[in-house]
Amino acid sequence: MSHAEDAAGTRRDFLYYATAGAGAVATGAAVWPLVNQMNPSADVQALSSIFVDVSAVEPGTQLTVKYLGKPVFIRRRTEDEIARARADDGAADLIDGLSQNPNKPGTSADDVNRTMDEAGEWLVMVGVCTHLGCVPMGNGAGDFGGWFCPCHGSHYDASGRIRKGPAPRNLDIPVAQFIDETTIQLG
Ligand code: FES
Repeated sequence: MSHAEDAAGTRRDFLYYATAGAGAVATGAAVWPLVNQMNPSADVQALSSIFVDVSAVEPGTQLTVKYLGKPVFIRRRTEDEIARARADDGAADLIDGLSQNPNKPGTSADDVNRTMDEAGEWLVMVGVCTHLGCVPMGNGAGDFGGWFCPCHGSHYDASGRIRKGPAPRNLDIPVAQFIDETTIQLG
């Protein structure tokens, strides 16, 4: 089924449920959970954003929020972490040479292309291993002082780049931006 047909079908279903729900309060109560469970189409997902207050995140710590059903790591890196990540730019064992950052599409995996700010303090990533989807452990875990996925042993560095193990891709970066000094918009 094409995307357009899928979207049309979703609209039809929604109208049906909405109409059925209008008939009686009792029916409406039973119907809304069904509507809520329908997967939003990609264009609807693209419109959904959340706003995260990061004012309480200290350097060297990480806030994990849920966005579009996945964990998102919001890490405020220390000077040491930034220096280690940048020292590894261009390292021979980088498995994925791309930033995987939709905010800077097509750029190289250099650390500056993966962080929210030029200085590299804020690193925001989808917290899902690019191998088979486990949630990696953070806070300097693994052989490269970043994140470690215990499922099959993938090691990510302080920039979230895959360095060792079966994962094929750096940890993905979500669409994100600062909308003021302490608020990050995801999506
Ligand atoms: S899911 Fe992370 S290494 Fe396999």
